Amino acid sequence: MDEHEPNAEPNAFEVTRRTVIETGATALLLTTLPRAALAAGEADDNEPLPPPVKVELQINAQPHSLTLDPRTTLLDALREHLALTGSKKGCDHGQCGACTVLIDGRRINSCLTLAAMHDGHSITTIEGLARGDDLHPLQAAFVEHDGFQCGYCTSGQICSAVGMLAESRLGMPSYVTEDLTHPPTELNDAEIRERMSGNICRCAAYPNIVAAIKQAAGMPT
Ligand code: FES
Ligand code: FES
Repeated sequence: MDEHEPNAEPNAFEVTRRTVIETGATALLLTTLPRAALAAGEADDNEPLPPPVKVELQINAQPHSLTLDPRTTLLDALREHLALTGSKKGCDHGQCGACTVLIDGRRINSCLTLAAMHDGHSITTIEGLARGDDLHPLQAAFVEHDGFQCGYCTSGQICSAVGMLAESRLGMPSYVTEDLTHPPTELNDAEIRERMSGNICRCAAYPNIVAAIKQAAGMPT
């Protein structure tokens, strides 16, 4: 089974979280080890670069064939190789959520995963949410509720909110869900804030972000 596909297993969310963490740890190790080795004086300058890999990505419903250094993160593949700069690089360490994209419908920090790990996967970035001139309901709600100031976190917030609402609809619990056997059928402010806690807004537009998400979810604001 594809790890990103929703499934009915009771521990599906837990498995996916672990997978994401493991994936992130792998990417982080691969991208930081050379620098760490250099700092320790252990790097061999003559060591050959790893051979490039071919990756087929379906991004915003368009096929893209890339030949990449296997250490290329998905975020760098999007920004540096495909000029899809809507996904932002904030911390590059999985701490801010500015780089959030959707892979097969599930949200992921694109700075913490390697592009080569997503051969054949369907990726949605902020550029793929609108339909022509018609904004995605979350995009429209962010505008209506003034859910951004500088806008740096906004694409990640919106992609994360799309994924979060889908997770909620599938009945996935969060850290603040009191009864894990009966996840809430309706979100509340605490659930929204907890589920969006991986997305940092340095401008602290949080009240307006919550209001925008509530509107897009059909809740009273
Ligand atoms: S840039 Fe990926 S989490 Fe901050
Ligand atoms: S709007 Fe500036 S960081 Fe969120």
